[in-house]
Amino acid sequence: MADRAAVLLIDPKYPFNVGGALRACAAFGAESPEWTGDRVHTEGVPRLPREERLRGYKDVRMGRLDGGDVEAIGLHTGPPEPFTPVAVEFRRNSEPLPLFEHPERALYVFGPEDGTLPGAVLARCHRFVIVPTMHCLNLASTVNIVLYDRLAKQGR
Ligand SMILES: C[S@@+](CC[C@H](N)C(=O)[O-])C[C@H]1O[C@@H](n2cnc3c(N)ncnc32)[C@H](O)[C@@H]1O
Repeated sequence: MADRAAVLLIDPKYPFNVGGALRACAAFGAESPEWTGDRVHTEGVPRLPREERLRGYKDVRMGRLDGGDVEAIGLHTGPPEPFTPVAVEFRRNSEPLPLFEHPERALYVFGPEDGTLPGAVLARCHRFVIVPTMHCLNLASTVNIVLYDRLAKQGR
């Protein structure tokens, strides 16, 4: 199975949250972001802040998914080559990122800037990872750190 990393944002609050995740995906070779919810609404590509509209991003597939959060995860977890859904959240009993072995095909699921991953989303995730910080990070920082860690552990 091909090595693939995708990013799913649950109900992001602002376009610049999506823009920050887009930048991280483009930089580290991940193939999304996609997102759920009604707060960043678009026809096609959202109007991202100017600094997030760089030419190199055009290869990154992105878009808002209709339907609920659970359905959005389901889109990536079916056969023939399912992604492993990984909840990235600031919560106890998650695997600390430095010790985390990334799945070959990982769907990293992130919560909104003003909230946390809902229980129904956590229930659908197979792995749980925390960046061991003193306090919660912002969303884009977390996406960058997780994707960098994946790349670093692949020795690339
Ligand atoms: C800014 S945080 C949520 C803020 C917080 N729940 C609040 O309202 O005060 C947004 C998302 O970033 C991710 N995140 C932030 N810090 C993290 C950490 N240290 N470990 C894992 N995920 C983190 C999680 O996906 C989280 O849902």
